[in-house]
Amino acid sequence: MVDISTSLSGIKLDNPVIPASGTFGFGYEFADYYDINILGSISFKGTTAEPRFGNPTPRIAECTEGLINSVGLQNPGVEKVVGEELPHLAKFYKKPLIANISGFSLDEYKLCAEKMNEVDQVGIIEVNISCPNVHGGGISFGTNPEAAASVAKTVRSVTNKPVYIKLTPNVTDITEIARAVEAEGADGISMINTLLGMRINLRTKKPVIANKMGGFSGPAIFPVACRMIYQVYEAVNIPIIGMGGVRSAEDVVEIMLAGASAVQVGAENLVNPYACKDIIEALPAVCEKYGINKLSDIIGGAH
Ligand code: FUM
Repeated sequence: MVDISTSLSGIKLDNPVIPASGTFGFGYEFADYYDINILGSISFKGTTAEPRFGNPTPRIAECTEGLINSVGLQNPGVEKVVGEELPHLAKFYKKPLIANISGFSLDEYKLCAEKMNEVDQVGIIEVNISCPNVHGGGISFGTNPEAAASVAKTVRSVTNKPVYIKLTPNVTDITEIARAVEAEGADGISMINTLLGMRINLRTKKPVIANKMGGFSGPAIFPVACRMIYQVYEAVNIPIIGMGGVRSAEDVVEIMLAGASAVQVGAENLVNPYACKDIIEALPAVCEKYGINKLSDIIGGAH
C-alpha cells in the first residue's frame, strides 16, 4: 500500500493536501460536503487584528485558466476567530491547523501570532507577507528582504509554534526573500501567493476589479509556482508548503518533486468544492502509476 503521509516541522500529516487560506473559509463550511478530517491540514482564512470588511466589489474577475481576486483580507478579526470560529471548527476537524495571519505593521503580526500561539488546535502559524490586495502591509513586507526578515523575527520571538512565511511571486528573486526569512528563524516557507493581474471590461473600458488590480491564481500559474519552489528548495534548508494552481494528484506529485513537503490547493476549491477530496482519493493510484511507494521520499526528487 502506498504511504501518502508527510510531515511539516515534526507535525505528521496523513497526506500532503491542504486547502489554501482564503479559499476554504474556516473549514467547517465544507463539512456538509464531506468529512473534512480526510484533509492533511487546513489553512484557514487570513486573520488580522481587527475585523475587516474587505475591498469594494467587484472583487473577482474570471480569466482563462484562473481568476483574479481582490478580497482585501475580509475577516472577523483575531478575537472572534480565536473565540468563535476555531471552537466551531473543532467540532468538525480534529487535526492541527495552519493559522494564516496578516498585518499592516510588525505590532499587528505580533499580536495575531501571540493570540494564535495560545490556541491548542493551531499547529503552524503561516505568516502572509504577500497579500497584493491591500495598501500598506501585506505585499510591501514581502517584496523587501529586510522587511520580510523583520516580520519573521518578530513572529518567531512570540511563539513556540513553527512559523512559515508565505511569499509573493511578485519579486525579481524570490530566493533572496526566502534566505532572509530563514536567517531570522522561519521554520518553513509557503509559496507562492498570487501574481498581480488585471482584466479590463470592453463595454465600460475600465478595470473589472473595483480595486483595479488583484491576485491572479489558478492552473495558469502552476509552472511559475513549480519553477519558484524548485529555486527556493535549492536556496534554503527549511521545508516548503507548495501552492499555485494545483488541481490534481499529478500536480501534487510534480510540485513535491520540485521541493514541496506539503501542497495547498487554492483556486480549484472555488471551482470544485470537492477538489481536495478528489485529489486525496486519487493520490495512491497516481503514486502507484509512477512507481512511488512512499510519497515523502520524492520531496525535491527533481534536483
Ligand atoms: O485579498 C485577499 O484577501 C487575499 C489575500 C492574499 O492573497 O494573500
